[in-house]
Amino acid sequence: MKIIMLGAPGAGKGTQAKKIAEKYQVPHISTGDIFRANIKNGTELGKKAKTFMDQGLLVPDELVVDLVVDRVAQDDCENGYVLDGFPRTIPQAESLDAALAKVGQKVDYAIDVDVPDENIVNRMSGRRACVGCGATYHIKYNPPKTEDVCDICGEKLILRDDDKPETVLKRLTVYHDQTQPLIDYYTKSGVLKQVDGTVDMEDVFQAIVKILGA
Ligand code: AP5
Ligand code: MG
Repeated sequence: MKIIMLGAPGAGKGTQAKKIAEKYQVPHISTGDIFRANIKNGTELGKKAKTFMDQGLLVPDELVVDLVVDRVAQDDCENGYVLDGFPRTIPQAESLDAALAKVGQKVDYAIDVDVPDENIVNRMSGRRACVGCGATYHIKYNPPKTEDVCDICGEKLILRDDDKPETVLKRLTVYHDQTQPLIDYYTKSGVLKQVDGTVDMEDVFQAIVKILGA
């Protein structure tokens, strides 16, 4: 089961991808999380990615494509995976399709989590992310048991650098320009499924399970 999560920044891709990974026992591969881990560890890739991420811009395709193509070729991806935050441009989608075609595979589902722009800024300002394990919370919709402390690993929760309102607005513009065209791309290839991302997280998940099968 090879699944792609589509949706605006803050639509809930990560929230749903984690649930899918757990239920269907496939790896959750988030390019945003990979970049943030590289930034934390001070790698060359992290340094390069940070300059783009902090401005709300996409990291150039050449820094992303090989990384993902290599990752999905690993043994733990044999039964599928859920890609969160990749592809985000038409060239990225074409590169993924080409790499999969070489080994006789294809994307099975592209799930678009649909949330209007009006809801996004509000969601992002309430998001808190764990510096230790990357778990995500929301101060109103999914609060941790103790304020600013991760339920899972006990590390501190922070507001992501790119979740400031002005950066969120830039990310939304970039999403509409560069990522939204993927909805047409995957409609044409017959794998696009849309779910309403404005309802409760658990209801969004149930809509996804209906698509993927129990
Ligand atoms: P990335 O980390 O992928 O960020 P993003 O796409 O902007 O998406 P987010 O992680 O912000 O949101 P999400 O949809 O995962 O929402 P979440 O589940 O957290 O990328 C960051 C940056 O890295 C990019 O800007 C770019 O620079 C770079 N990058 C990454 N991949 C790249 C690529 N392929 N190419 C080029 N550059 C790349 O939910 C958001 C909040 O809402 C949370 O607080 C959550 O608890 C809450 N929430 C979720 N669902 C609901 C619900 N149903 N109701 C109420 N609240 C909800
Ligand atoms: Mg995310």
